[in-house]
Amino acid sequence: MKTMLRGKDWIETADWSCEELETVLDIAKYLKMKFSLGEAHRILQDKTLFMMFFEQSTRTRNSTEAAMTQLGGHAHDLTPDKMQISHGETPKDTGRALSRYGHGIAIRNCFYGIGNKYIREVAEESEIPVSNLQCDVDHPCQTIADLMTVREKFGTNLKGMKFVISWTYAPAYARPLSVPQGLVTLMPRFGMDVVLAHPKEFKLMPKTIAAAENYAKESGSKFKIVNDMDEAFKDAMVVYPKSWGCHQFLDEQKIPEKERMEKGMEYLNQYKSWVCTEKRMRLADKRSVYMHPLPADRGAEVEDAVIDGPQSIVFDQAENRLHTIKSILALTMGGRP
Ligand code: CP
Repeated sequence: MKTMLRGKDWIETADWSCEELETVLDIAKYLKMKFSLGEAHRILQDKTLFMMFFEQSTRTRNSTEAAMTQLGGHAHDLTPDKMQISHGETPKDTGRALSRYGHGIAIRNCFYGIGNKYIREVAEESEIPVSNLQCDVDHPCQTIADLMTVREKFGTNLKGMKFVISWTYAPAYARPLSVPQGLVTLMPRFGMDVVLAHPKEFKLMPKTIAAAENYAKESGSKFKIVNDMDEAFKDAMVVYPKSWGCHQFLDEQKIPEKERMEKGMEYLNQYKSWVCTEKRMRLADKRSVYMHPLPADRGAEVEDAVIDGPQSIVFDQAENRLHTIKSILALTMGGRP
């Protein structure tokens, strides 16, 4: 167990060793037990977290604010229009100024090619720890909660367990790559055999794929990419079907910004059959679970019978967002020097 995590930024799970991530999971379990018993755990008494949301959020915003309240501190809920960001203030100056007022900064910025860079620029200049509440590259708060949930269901020895992340059809908007990217870079480190399924246009960033392959090699697990949802589901123990945009492919094709929306919709509409149905769930192992980070596009991504069915653990995932963010904030803003 690594105990000296005060001041450490939480930007990508790849920045943390497995031992450090185990500490996050251990403390999350401890805080979950405290919460279950109604016992106070005011570890961040009188401390302040600045939350900056460049996009909408239900789970991340509310789990993080609730975490700060229950830890005895306070969270400011900020959006660019409430700050001088809307007048062009730089990440560097924002980070420096907020450092003078409180104990932590947490940012959601999912703009493709911008979000991770923005968070890292704030972190570079900030004197207090910075957490990533989702960017264009990773969603570490979601994936660590997902890992906690999988371990609650299947135990800590996950060696050789088939974990499938599949693209799904969802017409509402082009979601970031950060959840699938976060999953393929985290789950192989904890022994799972990861299969990533997507139509050819919905690829992830090459750097992420290379990292997933390396992690699988290092930890003796497997990582494979297929272009067929049925093939991926076969005998899976965890299925995690969710939508994401074809940002990477459009980039590679050098599609101009103004044509991206139309082109993206064109590709998307070719794959309306990529839905998580009850029939598909029968291809997976009988003991398998269905996961989704939410919000889900019901009827497009997944049938109600699956997401509301006995194999669905989506609200256990959502609940664990609270316990894991508490652990991250307690360790990085409190903890030991
Ligand atoms: N899963 C997740 O991050 O949900 P929100 O967008 O509601 O925060």
